[in-house]
Amino acid sequence: MKKLAIDGGEPVVPKGAIKPWPPIDQTDREAVLRVFDNQMLCGAGAPECLALQEEWAAYIGRKYCLATNSGTGALHMALAAAGIGPGDEVIVPAYTFLASASCVLHANAIPIFVDIDERTYNIDPSKIEEKINERTKAIIPVHLHGLPADMDEIMAIAKKHNLLVIEDACQAHGAEYKGRKVGSIGHFAAFSLNSSKNLCGGEGGFFMTDDDTWKMRGDMLRMFGDEIDDETKLRVYNASILGFMYRTQELPAAFARAQLKRLDQHNAIRRQNCEFLTKVLKEYPWVTTPYVPPDRTHVWWMYVVRFDPKKAGVNLTPREFRIALEKALHMEGVAVGQWQIMPVPAQDLFQTKMGYGSRGCPWTCHFYGKDITYRGSDYPVASALCEDYTVIAGIAPPNGLDLMEQYAEAFRKVFNDLGTVIKHKDDPIVAHYSGRIFMAG
Ligand SMILES: Cc1ncc(COP(=O)(O)O)c(C=O)c1O
Repeated sequence: MKKLAIDGGEPVVPKGAIKPWPPIDQTDREAVLRVFDNQMLCGAGAPECLALQEEWAAYIGRKYCLATNSGTGALHMALAAAGIGPGDEVIVPAYTFLASASCVLHANAIPIFVDIDERTYNIDPSKIEEKINERTKAIIPVHLHGLPADMDEIMAIAKKHNLLVIEDACQAHGAEYKGRKVGSIGHFAAFSLNSSKNLCGGEGGFFMTDDDTWKMRGDMLRMFGDEIDDETKLRVYNASILGFMYRTQELPAAFARAQLKRLDQHNAIRRQNCEFLTKVLKEYPWVTTPYVPPDRTHVWWMYVVRFDPKKAGVNLTPREFRIALEKALHMEGVAVGQWQIMPVPAQDLFQTKMGYGSRGCPWTCHFYGKDITYRGSDYPVASALCEDYTVIAGIAPPNGLDLMEQYAEAFRKVFNDLGTVIKHKDDPIVAHYSGRIFMAG
């Protein structure tokens, strides 16, 4: 048996073997240079932004797409376009990125959290209805890690209770649910183009809908509440509603257009890498690999596994076991660590409930008039996940099966020598190990 790197042996994965995302080639460079040649960097008629909107709407199969400067902005635009505001509640999964919930606060409404499903980590539809009341206006399902949420069940609940569905598809570009692209199913959808995402623009996002009125409101919300005159194509500089500044610009739009041409190809490489890892990791019954229901495709924004100390016959807590394994894998050169470290409602913002100003709005808003307490422990599935999951990074191109084979060797080396892993569990933080995977989001 080879000596583990954490025990003084040679690491399996050499330094520099993991290549950064996204792959940038000549077509990306030419796209960006095209913007300089055009001498137009932004604006209502900016050609790259307009083309990107059309191309993304066609890719998803949706009537309207408005390009934005972030996924967070796109989510907020959806809530605002739907008229959701003070006194309203919106249902959000308890485990996601903060913006899926903070967009509700941005609309002066109240996020109500629902625990996640044990296997998919997406919102658990069986727990939604118990949270619905006369204030509930919408559900925000998140297609977490790139796996579509249970859209049929969610849409049926929404229909029954007359609620809107805003798909948070920020992590799931190109994922399909029963043959339909995510982002085309709910009343609205939001995507992120932040640099970690499957479709990358550096920063950016998409607001999507099929509804003419919501699209028109989205247009105004994106630009200060202002409008473009149909005839002159110029801004009228007369805000008719409260808007924001969520426009994007030509450079990220041009870059994203070039990346979009390779999105399916990039997703296929992610899939190949992740399916290879799953095959290897299934050799260990104490490792839970990602579950993909047969009626949907996963686009692997993130590859997440869980470790069960009991099944491994190890007398450690799930957290202790996970950290011990992360340290040993890290020393072998595998990129591992956590992304979110707690359920969203456990974050300080929801404990202090310091919203706008220092008076606790929107929670203290008289239109709401209810006292609400957020506790991470109210979401046991999300809480348990945060103890024992880790992200295996480096699964995106330009990394391919050659790196995955090195990862496999590192997993086998570490997982077949748990005694040594545990001996080193209390080692001080080893060689730049932070226990965190820092995604750009
Ligand atoms: C699920 C989810 N929602 C919303 C966002 C917000 O997107 P952005 O960072 O583009 O504002 C992100 C990403 O960061 C995300 O992962």
